[in-house]
Amino acid sequence: MARHLITSAIPYINGIKHLGNLVGSQLPADLFARYQRGRGHEVLFLCATDEHGTPAELAAAKAGQPVAEYCAQMHAVQADIAQGFGLSFDHFGRSSSPANHTLTQHFAGKLAENDLIREVSETQMYSHADGRFLPDRYIEGTCPNCGFDSARGDQCDNCTKQLDPVDLINPRSVISGSTDLEMRETKHLYLRQSTMKDQLEAWIDSKTDWPVLTTSIAKKWLNDGDGLQDRGITRDLDWGIPVKRGQQDWPGMEGKVFYVWFDAPIEYIACAQEWVDAGKGQDWQRWWRTDMGAADVTYTQFMGKDNVPFHTLSFPATILGSGEPWKLVDYIKSFNYLNYDGGQFSTSRGRGVFMDQALDILPADYWRWWLLSHAPESSDAEFTWDNFQASVNKDLADVLGNFVSRITKFCRAKFGETVPEGGAWGPQEAALIAELGQRLRAYEGHMEAMEVRKSAQELRAIWVAGNEYLQSAAPWSTFKENPEQAAAQVRMGLNLVRLYAVLSAPFIPFAAQTILTAMKCDAHSWPDDMQTALGALPVGHAFEVPDVLFAKITDEQREDWQARFAGQRS
Ligand code: 2FM
Ligand code: ZN
Repeated sequence: MARHLITSAIPYINGIKHLGNLVGSQLPADLFARYQRGRGHEVLFLCATDEHGTPAELAAAKAGQPVAEYCAQMHAVQADIAQGFGLSFDHFGRSSSPANHTLTQHFAGKLAENDLIREVSETQMYSHADGRFLPDRYIEGTCPNCGFDSARGDQCDNCTKQLDPVDLINPRSVISGSTDLEMRETKHLYLRQSTMKDQLEAWIDSKTDWPVLTTSIAKKWLNDGDGLQDRGITRDLDWGIPVKRGQQDWPGMEGKVFYVWFDAPIEYIACAQEWVDAGKGQDWQRWWRTDMGAADVTYTQFMGKDNVPFHTLSFPATILGSGEPWKLVDYIKSFNYLNYDGGQFSTSRGRGVFMDQALDILPADYWRWWLLSHAPESSDAEFTWDNFQASVNKDLADVLGNFVSRITKFCRAKFGETVPEGGAWGPQEAALIAELGQRLRAYEGHMEAMEVRKSAQELRAIWVAGNEYLQSAAPWSTFKENPEQAAAQVRMGLNLVRLYAVLSAPFIPFAAQTILTAMKCDAHSWPDDMQTALGALPVGHAFEVPDVLFAKITDEQREDWQARFAGQRS
């Protein structure tokens, strides 16, 4: 039995994520976790909310709530939606957890001990009225480029020009509206990752099996321009993890917190501690410390391409720089973007389908199937309602759903709701078993390689093979001449139904469970030998015809949803 540590990029706390976010990390990570569990391996699958930083503070202020309260509430909301999508995290933690505070401060202490942190003096906008430094997003003013009067300190939303707060005309504080601002000196900590460039490059070069998308982004950051830059790891914010060296205060850093991108990946580790603290597991070090049992763990991370630099360079710099035997990632699966109906998903404009809305209109499996079978792997992908409708109606309703319904109903009508006896399998069944055996090995190969689209295609081909068999064996015709042979064909069909539930569970876990329940079968172990797997439901085994597994999406529904999600969610 192998051991798999699997993490998904942790979603920001502010707001509910859209389907593009989902398919770029959490959903494919879930697919892989379910598959590895299905193969009988030991899996620890972790995710969490990413709770620090300016966006969290701003969203809480907008909601009129204290930030800690806002985060607790949004965590519960996100956890609930994740469950609705069947995301099978062993734990869904929080980057604001006590475990992450301690661990983040621990790493900072180790990095300082190893001379990998330097102090830098910078000037930053200070607000007298608010009594604090203002991050760029907390400053608004008139854009020097287009005259828009609510341009942010980092960017103008009107003309998209990247800005510096000092560029703004009549700058004011977003918090109080005060214009009593001045540029003041403030000190920050920088991680000296430039000194680790060779070590990081050698490590990335050793990962010859990584997707090109991952390594090309990492290489670009290593070698573009002046090469790998040192990175500021502290901020002048109230909300976050206080800057300390281990348990010690850090002189000059009073009132400052760690930058959200410093503590967020450390939460991958802290989350395992939270998992233990929650009483769900034991011995988190066994997953994370190579000196305490994690040497034989395979660690896979899933993320969108914008997250790759932090996971290939910054987080490994933190881990390597600590000088301690923490587990480094073995494989990084990254994704391109999913676009929405001729444009981009937009959280601010409410354009596209968000996770809560998706579940309001259709069961999770419809979304899971479409998203995974169209995952943006080799390039950006696009969600269109036409394509969604076509793929759900064809793959799920016509191919899989229809197969299950047809064979179970036929059996009920002619033999009752038990696996019928009589007859024997002949050359047609032998050919099917041979084909399925080959396809199963191909499916496993794609799943192991995390080739999500190819896995979906192979799974679909496995469903199609059953349909074609049923079509040509035609037990409804055979039955008239030779009921014994029809019984043998039905036995094959019913066993295919069970097999499909097992193989499809990583993609469509809810439908898979419905099928297994209807087939009154808890044998969901992964098939090894196809002949044996297709004998799992013996003669005399009782079942029930399941309810319709997948309803077709109508043209009216499609048009209605297309209009509804075009953008104006508040
Ligand atoms: O891009 C994002 O949604 C980030 N919240 C991902 C963080 S992943 C990790 F570093 F924790
Ligand atoms: Zn502008």
